[in-house]
Amino acid sequence: MEVINRYIAIKTHVDGAPEESDFELKTSPIALSLAPASNEVIVKNLYVSIDPYQINRMKSYSSSQKNSEFAVGIVPGEAIDTYGVGKVVASGNPEFEKGDIVGGLVSWGEYSVIKPGGMLNKLNPMGFPLSYHVGVLAFSGLTAYAGFFEICKPKKGEKVFVSAASGSVGNLVGQYAKLFGCYVVGCAGSQDKVAFLKEKLGFDDAFNYKEAKDLKSTLKRYFPDGIDIYFDNVGGEMQEAAVDNMNINGRVAVCGVISEYTDDEKRAAPSMMDVIYKRIKIQGFLAGDYLNKFADFFTTTCDHLRTGDIKPLEDISEGVESIPSAFISLFRGQNVGKKMVKIAEE
Ligand SMILES: NC(=O)c1ccc[n+]([C@@H]2O[C@H](COP(=O)([O-])OP(=O)(O)OC[C@H]3O[C@@H](n4cnc5c(N)ncnc54)[C@H](OP(=O)(O)O)[C@@H]3O)[C@@H](O)[C@H]2O)c1
Repeated sequence: MEVINRYIAIKTHVDGAPEESDFELKTSPIALSLAPASNEVIVKNLYVSIDPYQINRMKSYSSSQKNSEFAVGIVPGEAIDTYGVGKVVASGNPEFEKGDIVGGLVSWGEYSVIKPGGMLNKLNPMGFPLSYHVGVLAFSGLTAYAGFFEICKPKKGEKVFVSAASGSVGNLVGQYAKLFGCYVVGCAGSQDKVAFLKEKLGFDDAFNYKEAKDLKSTLKRYFPDGIDIYFDNVGGEMQEAAVDNMNINGRVAVCGVISEYTDDEKRAAPSMMDVIYKRIKIQGFLAGDYLNKFADFFTTTCDHLRTGDIKPLEDISEGVESIPSAFISLFRGQNVGKKMVKIAEE
């Protein structure tokens, strides 16, 4: 049997803010049968992840492209790989059989052909919706967990600031930090998001950074005793303002710099005098380097989800054709929580 796979590609490299016109919906036939020795697996995609880092892969040049196997440049016209969950529809790999629910590196499309050695694991949903296994129980969750506990090395009672706090990673950092016993303030780009952080997610405080005239004095108001930990999702002037307000021995986990992804001119230039005299540690990290923490993260987070101590926050669009707008929404601050696209019913 043969199916027509519909998938999303970029038409050319994308070097600024992404627009719908940068993308195209393409089709190609896939035969749903594989030779037993091929070691390939064909997956019908169910949910695919939509992540900001893909913009750096779409550029004609980004230093990120040469420093991580997951960040290699995307070739215009070709399928775009991403994390996702799906169902095996044909297998030439003895480890998988038709009907298996799997998680792995699939593509922004309806079907994915996983080559030998490609990232693919059988998934036990653990009684949770499959979408959780793309967000809170997958890389967003691991990023928040490893970034907060391994990079920030929190102590109870410390003051934590999180940017893009209503986003996929940010909301979880705030939730883990609150459960751990920290004082947590988040920033986000609308009043609704700010209210949500305080009223639904239990942040101690939150503010709309788009309404702040001066970020340094705004942070001073929210942290009169200084910031101990800054979990940076945005870079730029927010990072500079946070460093200005850090306490001695403060830690900055640089998770992402989304404000710089679509603006080549923008660079955070935190005061190095502050970094030295306040002995601030600024550390970048990649979630993929913390797979050894996955089991710990997964068990802990499943427990918190069952008790209701962690609230999953998802923002799901439907259908392969909605992938470009879902992706663009990240850069316009239109998502709340983990952005993903549901491609098909289980
Ligand atoms: N290091 C790693 O391994 C790793 C893994 C996953 C993600 N990340 C990074 O973590 C960050 C968050 O990723 P995510 O997947 O959780 O995305 P997300 O926060 O769910 O979505 C992006 C959010 O960023 C905010 N934003 C967009 N443009 C902005 C700008 N110019 N200035 C300030 N804020 C802006 C928007 O919220 P508001 O403007 O409303 O606040 C938007 O909702 C990104 O920088 C991403 O690259 C890193």
